[in-house]
Amino acid sequence: MSRLVKVGVIGTGFIGPAHIEAARRTFLAEVVALADVNEEVARSKAQQYAVPRFYGDYRYLLRDEEVEVVHICTPNYLHYEMSREALLTGKHVICEKPLAMKRKEAEDLLELADKKGLLHAVHFNIRYYPLVREAKWMVKRGEVGEVFAVHGSYLQDWLFYDTDYNWRLEPELSGESRAIADIGSHWLDLIEYVTNRKVKEVFADFATFHKVRKKPLKPVETYAGKMLQPEDYQAIPIYTEDYASVLLHFEGRAHGVLTVNQVAAGRKNRLYYEVDGSRCAIAWDSEKPNELWIGRRDKANEFLLKDPSLLGQETRAIVSFPGGHNEGFPDTSKHFFREVYRRILEGDFRVKNQREFPTFVDGLREVVLSEAILESVRSGKWVQVN
Ligand SMILES: NC(=O)c1ccc[n+]([C@@H]2O[C@H](COP(=O)([O-])OP(=O)(O)OC[C@H]3O[C@@H](n4cnc5c(N)ncnc54)[C@H](O)[C@@H]3O)[C@@H](O)[C@H]2O)c1
Repeated sequence: MSRLVKVGVIGTGFIGPAHIEAARRTFLAEVVALADVNEEVARSKAQQYAVPRFYGDYRYLLRDEEVEVVHICTPNYLHYEMSREALLTGKHVICEKPLAMKRKEAEDLLELADKKGLLHAVHFNIRYYPLVREAKWMVKRGEVGEVFAVHGSYLQDWLFYDTDYNWRLEPELSGESRAIADIGSHWLDLIEYVTNRKVKEVFADFATFHKVRKKPLKPVETYAGKMLQPEDYQAIPIYTEDYASVLLHFEGRAHGVLTVNQVAAGRKNRLYYEVDGSRCAIAWDSEKPNELWIGRRDKANEFLLKDPSLLGQETRAIVSFPGGHNEGFPDTSKHFFREVYRRILEGDFRVKNQREFPTFVDGLREVVLSEAILESVRSGKWVQVN
């Protein structure tokens, strides 16, 4: 049997177990250790997910010599410190988004990873839906023509009630921006990826509909809040945005607009975009990820269904099943991690000019975009993205 990459996962709430499962499904890796807030939590998660070693302090996981790559799946404020320490101990890093809470931190991480010659990745997994990649290649092959306009949204309803609560509502744990940094970052990453165009300036409007929320007096894992019967709450003032709309100017002539809203009833987790080009339009909805809409002026519109026989070779690389067999969220991370692990197995840790997985370069880019958007809200003006 060929050798497997040895993986360690820090943070085992919502997304950590998704990393563990996806890592295993690559058939290229073995999850050898996990870490969480304390020994008791780590032990029970290790038992639940059949991971052989567990640590109640992530620093012990970083000292585990067998671990080659560390997946960081903790709240945002820990990403910088954990990524930095992991790189310093010589581990490759796959960090959750956002890479850091401040631009300077993200820049430091990129510099350190390059200096250490280690692989670095930020989990912008939505790039790995087959029809997202196909859309990118349609733009690249010129089938969409010149990109005139881009519009879309990322909507969720898990913070709909003022009794919905999570660490993401606390700026010291999550950052100064919430909806933009948490889900807007996925949309912005995706749209620059698909259109191959950078956003050059932004103009933003924020709103916080629940200015006070009721915090449960016991901890709640992400998305589990909906299942709780509210018993005892503490009133907490909310300073970050439930909602944001951002006007966008791209390099070249393209214009765009994004709306994110975490209190949009009925929208569970819906990322939607539409690209209006000079030859056709394309649209994709993450809640129906196996369909790509192609809009035509002079003939009937089309729906391209995910089917490897109908997709370009770049897309086929991230398709596991034939047409009609739907692929979804868990498959995106599988394909993402496969690219990272292959590079580890090949011993090729260069990240410059690579066309594969998103790296700390992309993580830094999203922090820079978030900061420009925040600056626009503060100043009430268009802000250049530098
Ligand atoms: N790419 C995606 O699609 C996606 C989806 C969800 C979350 N995320 C990102 O993943 C990260 C985690 O989000 P989540 O929804 O899983 O949160 P969560 O609250 O469900 O889980 C966080 C986990 O980290 C653990 N943790 C907290 N402090 C720790 C510490 N000091 N040491 C070790 N473990 C610690 C918690 O106990 C918990 O197990 C966030 O940064 C979020 O932005 C990304």
